[in-house]
Amino acid sequence: MLVQIPDLLKPDELAACRRLLDEAEWVDGRVTAGHQSAATKDNMQIPEGSPAARKLGEAILAALSSNPLFIAAALPLRVFPPLFNRYSGGQSFGDHVDNAIRHIPGTPHRIRTDLSMTVFLADPSEYDGGELNVEDTYGRHSVKLPAGHAVLYPASSLHHVTPVTRGTRLASFFWIQSMVRDDARRRLLFELDMSIQRLARTGNQEGVNLTAIYHNLLRMWAEA
Ligand code: NI
Repeated sequence: MLVQIPDLLKPDELAACRRLLDEAEWVDGRVTAGHQSAATKDNMQIPEGSPAARKLGEAILAALSSNPLFIAAALPLRVFPPLFNRYSGGQSFGDHVDNAIRHIPGTPHRIRTDLSMTVFLADPSEYDGGELNVEDTYGRHSVKLPAGHAVLYPASSLHHVTPVTRGTRLASFFWIQSMVRDDARRRLLFELDMSIQRLARTGNQEGVNLTAIYHNLLRMWAEA
């Protein structure tokens, strides 16, 4: 399931991020690639744990924690500290699957990457190419969203970023360990949740019973 999260960042939050991105130091993106993806990865990143990455990451995490659509779709247990990348001059990232387990730098913790997230930080008018292509059980999806919007997709999907042939693509990317590991179960809970919310807007009392079912399924399937 691919879920688009519109307006994750408000215009002033996006502008603050762009200022930090402009001033940041950038290094070769292969530093965080696994052995196989290093061969196809060609981009730049802000070093993990650098002051700029930390400050930017805090802004992204704050936006996520107050976004009901993100919480409903991801059911997050742990979120990897956000990373930031930049593509220009024909740079791209070929087909790969993200590593299943990631060590959270500077901590003894590991995260199982159930979901991958990309937050677009440059507007589509600023660059050509740079589409995120994700292959899931429903086929291939090409994603290129306005600045400040985000996409959430199963980390088990094969994906790539097409060459950026004009301008600069800026994005944040990171992973989420969900309370509900299984994509199909998480999708059912998300659809039930959305349905309950639509029903609530009509004033229908049946929503109370469905909400009880939602929580009892969550209790059955979630690790917290
Ligand atoms: Ni990836």
